[in-house]
Amino acid sequence: MSEQDSFYFAPLQGFTDFVYRRCYHEVFGSIDEYYIPYIAIGPGQKIRNSQYRDVLPENNENVPVVPQILCANVGELKLLADELKLMSYTTINLNLGCPYPMATKRGRGTALLENPDQLKQVLDYLFAEYDFKVSVKFRAGLTDESTIVKQFELLQAYPFEKLIFHPRTAKQLYKGAANRQLFAELAAKSKSPLVYNGDIQSIDDLNEIRQQVPNQSEWMIGRGILNDPFLPTKLKGELHSDEVKLEKLIAFHNEILKNYQVIWTDEGIVIHRMIQFWSYFQQSFMQGRKAYKVAKKARNLDSYQSGIDSFWVNAKLE
Ligand SMILES: Cc1cc2nc3c(=O)[nH]c(=O)nc-3n(C[C@H](O)[C@H](O)[C@H](O)COP(=O)(O)O)c2cc1C
Repeated sequence: MSEQDSFYFAPLQGFTDFVYRRCYHEVFGSIDEYYIPYIAIGPGQKIRNSQYRDVLPENNENVPVVPQILCANVGELKLLADELKLMSYTTINLNLGCPYPMATKRGRGTALLENPDQLKQVLDYLFAEYDFKVSVKFRAGLTDESTIVKQFELLQAYPFEKLIFHPRTAKQLYKGAANRQLFAELAAKSKSPLVYNGDIQSIDDLNEIRQQVPNQSEWMIGRGILNDPFLPTKLKGELHSDEVKLEKLIAFHNEILKNYQVIWTDEGIVIHRMIQFWSYFQQSFMQGRKAYKVAKKARNLDSYQSGIDSFWVNAKLE
């Protein structure tokens, strides 16, 4: 890999919360920026407590994070951006890619990308009224990839710090292949650095994209890291023995569990979070499914802990 490669951790609502990010950064590092899952205006014109807690600076100390907002119009943008300004953030990411009807029906995410009037108003306001360094994260339109070419022209009029592109339509969700050719086409036109995002699981994936976009050096990765926390170090060419890897993976798990127990006294919530964690983390181990099942069956933290302790005894890396 080139020395100049940058790796960004994708925002994954429900997975990469502040505990996960902080523990990941402590144990593995190797990430240039962690994108915080979006904050949005919820019931009562307020940000949900869980989202608010996730962006609070005291919960993100010493971790290079970028907050993300999901909004439909200038009114929502203002509420969210003011909140982040109050928290002294200097960088902000705008979500133009959320594919779920819950967001798009309200004009947010990919729906905002496809609404040139609203989008222009939002971007004009964001650049005129604030000093943030701004990036956007977007998809290839709602249903038809060909629409992105036009929307991309609109984006080109603004001085973004970077643009992050996941080349799938909202309709596809996560199905089908990410369109790397489409990424290459936009990369050739882009005035701001264009970050590649989508389905990076291995060195081969990176090399395949490089064949289409030889100078590509900025990468955002999500599920690939949830599956294999060592992926960024592997992509950087750093190697560790299996023994060291296992030690770090166990330490990572234990840190997360310990921190969740500090936040939630309700054991059911902690176990639920650990089930989410294992739903991807199981991929790091041969027979990792056993640990996932332990989490799913655990009735309390004692049974969770004893089941996972037994799993570690014979754990082998995938
Ligand atoms: C469970 C889940 C939650 C996500 N939450 C967000 C989010 O809050 N903001 C966002 O921009 N993208 C979100 N995404 C999209 C990811 O950031 C990323 O674009 C997508 O997973 C593709 O990258 P990957 O193949 O490397 O995972 C989410 C994806 C998943 C699967």
